[in-house]
Amino acid sequence: MSYRTRLLGAAAVFAALSAPAFAADCEVTHWWTSGGEAAAVAEFQKAFDALGDDKWVDGAIGGSGDTARPIIISRIMGGNPPCATQFNPGKDADDLIDAELILDLTEVAEAEGWRDIVRPSSQMDSCTRDGKVWCVPVNLHSAQWMWTNRKVYEDAGLEPPKTWEDVVAAAPALQAKGVMPLSAAQGWPINLLLMEVMLPALAGRDAYVDILEKKNAEAAGGPEMRKVFEAMDEARKLVDPSTIVPQWNDAVSLVITGKAGANVMGDWAQGEFQVANMVAGQDYDCLPGLGHSPMLNTGGDVFYFPKNEDPAVTAAQLKMASSMISKEVQVAFNLKKGSLPIRPDVDLAAANDCMKKGLAILEDPNNIMPSPAQMMQRETQNAIRDLFNEFFTDPSMTVDDVQAQFVEIIENAPE
Ligand code: BGC
Repeated sequence: MSYRTRLLGAAAVFAALSAPAFAADCEVTHWWTSGGEAAAVAEFQKAFDALGDDKWVDGAIGGSGDTARPIIISRIMGGNPPCATQFNPGKDADDLIDAELILDLTEVAEAEGWRDIVRPSSQMDSCTRDGKVWCVPVNLHSAQWMWTNRKVYEDAGLEPPKTWEDVVAAAPALQAKGVMPLSAAQGWPINLLLMEVMLPALAGRDAYVDILEKKNAEAAGGPEMRKVFEAMDEARKLVDPSTIVPQWNDAVSLVITGKAGANVMGDWAQGEFQVANMVAGQDYDCLPGLGHSPMLNTGGDVFYFPKNEDPAVTAAQLKMASSMISKEVQVAFNLKKGSLPIRPDVDLAAANDCMKKGLAILEDPNNIMPSPAQMMQRETQNAIRDLFNEFFTDPSMTVDDVQAQFVEIIENAPE
């Protein structure tokens, strides 16, 4: 883009951002309802409300992304859109963009140079369709973390685990004390353990991308993938199905309160440890890639702004997008969220040990993997999620059974 175009873009955006438009109430839908998440989203709200007379109206949807996404999509499709909404970077909003229901953010993105400041570039790619920018990326989350409570192991006379194998080996000693070796939550968290964590850690990055993105059914049925199902077979034996809790943060809370030794969950779990005043590297550990492979996927969150006829709302939407990606707000939000800022040019002196580990891993581009939402349609992800949950909770389903059904899903998956 030429300097002149950029200048003109900047002028137009500045006019929109500083227009004395009437104030708007801006309802923001998201699924950030755990303690850590609520603390983080409050930073966005505080920053937006401080900009002027527009008001953030919180539209939190309880449950999880799986509950919230269909509600948000049907509201936008049905003509009752929120002013702004969270999604994950990926394909979830493609139909809404194609139906011309989403505000085009290209002008503000170009004026503020988002493509130059956002890293990795895959996160801007996820917001770009047909050359235009449709969402603002606000953070980088990765799924590949195991969370362990040091005291639980020390009380059982053990060293805190460093790998998945250590967690498995410690199980009898913990169980003898009435402590769960592994906590689990139903639905997408079980899928996260198998598909996002065990698959790349045990079968490797290439197999992960080959199977999920390239839909290689042969690899899905091959020996590397079999190793993953065998590990999951081992994991399900550590978890009594009656102890599986409904929400991810309930499972993390079992680790925080010492009722369980370990949980595998994305780095958003860090927000919960922070709210509980626990210190990384002292009270708890965060082990990437099951303690083996320091590779992270680049999931996270983005915000879309459904089109609105009211110019005051449009102006508020542009202001909100700009505020969310600004340096100060990036730091305040991400420190509470447990995610990494979407831009590297911010002051992270206050980052905790886990964040520092994540940042160090991401410095090497070879350690970065795409997230499932960037590789597959949501229906495919849901089919896999349901299959893996069945396997985890039904001991009569064998490794052969689950692998055969997995191959079938991959064979029939759309691009
Ligand atoms: C989001 C995170 C969120 C997590 C659990 C993920 O889809 O990217 O921001 O904390 O769900 O609610």
